[in-house]
Amino acid sequence: MNVLITGGAGYIGSHTCVELLNAGHAAIVVDNLANSSAAALKRVERIAGKEVAFYEGDVRDEALLDRVFDERDIDCAIHFAGLKCVPESVSKPMEYYDNNINSTLTLCRVMARRGVKRLVFSSSATVYSAQNAMPLSENSVTGDCTNPYGWTKYISERLLTDIAAADGEWSIALLRYFNPIGAHESGLIGEDPRGIPNNLMPYISQTAVGRRDELTVYGSDYDTKDGTGVRDYIHVMDLAKGHVAAIGYLLEHRGAAAFNLGTGKGVSVLEMVEAFQRANEVAVPFRFGPRRPGDVATCYADASRSEKLLHWRAEKTLEDMCRDSWHWQRLNPQGYGE
Ligand code: NAD
Ligand code: UFG
Repeated sequence: MNVLITGGAGYIGSHTCVELLNAGHAAIVVDNLANSSAAALKRVERIAGKEVAFYEGDVRDEALLDRVFDERDIDCAIHFAGLKCVPESVSKPMEYYDNNINSTLTLCRVMARRGVKRLVFSSSATVYSAQNAMPLSENSVTGDCTNPYGWTKYISERLLTDIAAADGEWSIALLRYFNPIGAHESGLIGEDPRGIPNNLMPYISQTAVGRRDELTVYGSDYDTKDGTGVRDYIHVMDLAKGHVAAIGYLLEHRGAAAFNLGTGKGVSVLEMVEAFQRANEVAVPFRFGPRRPGDVATCYADASRSEKLLHWRAEKTLEDMCRDSWHWQRLNPQGYGE
């Protein structure tokens, strides 16, 4: 199939391009490079030994999308494009709502006009209310988001669900990612955050490589196994395969459906630091700091629905995630800026 991949130059998008090409699909990427580098796509081509069609531009540019649909016989789309930094969304809500909601709306409008009605959407575990018991299933309560970024995902899910309800020809998979980490095993592509990383794994790997002095562990008094926050970390290549599985599902099913993409296992910050040091035989200096505002103690998935309906399951271990994150970081200490 010819798959339109918005945000395909980004972290998850680039890894998904590799899996799509390996599965025999064609990859057509639209990305404005707001948070990525075109070099990532060159490396995707190197890994897969196949070409990626790349259109540099904004998904909210309806004329650009029309041109892409004119020039390529698109069968379905994966919509990764969006802004994803939680604290930035608090200080720049208008940018986040504009980018994340209007990109989804523009894409759907063009798809509907072209009669292309299969869509995979990048959602997040952040749509779940913090009041839920663990593990989170797709039936857990959503909403009560704690930041504008979370609301943009919640609203996009609502919008897509309403679109599928109004027109029974749509097939939409809402993929709720837990915490993607790791990199392609080649070390050629990986996560390359701009500025100081917000997320745990890039902070750990940048500390290990000497770009940061020490990791701050946000909170040591949570009601968890060792007092530090617990999350469901998933290898980005497993996540990428989840998208290929979702496309298969869309061919057989109509309507909108949500799926958790996680491992079902909770790992604490200290366990992650320990696993990274052990897997890579490298030191990660850290100190304890106060809790980070907006953080929950524990978040992990019940991924059984994805296993049953998408026939997909995360396979890689925590050691794989730590090893591959480090491999990428070590080979590319400055990310794609090298
Ligand atoms: P990323 O920033 O690496 O990738 C997003 C890509 O979209 C970037 O290449 C960026 O340049 C592009 N982009 C942004 N706005 C655009 C626009 N208007 N038009 C065209 N391109 C645009 O982020 P990622 O980690 O790969 O995340 C991909 C998607 O998954 C995002 O929607 C994100 O919200 C979602 N998600 C990510 C995580 C995570 O922890 N990484 C967790 C849950 C959900
Ligand atoms: N943490 C630290 N130090 C750091 C960074 C993080 O101790 O420097 C801790 C956090 O307090 C938390 C855990 O590591 O306990 C994971 O934090 P991340 O920032 O890596 O991930 P979050 O679970 O907070 O959020 C991520 C994405 C969100 C997404 C969510 C659920 O950033 O966009 O996963 O998918 F919504």
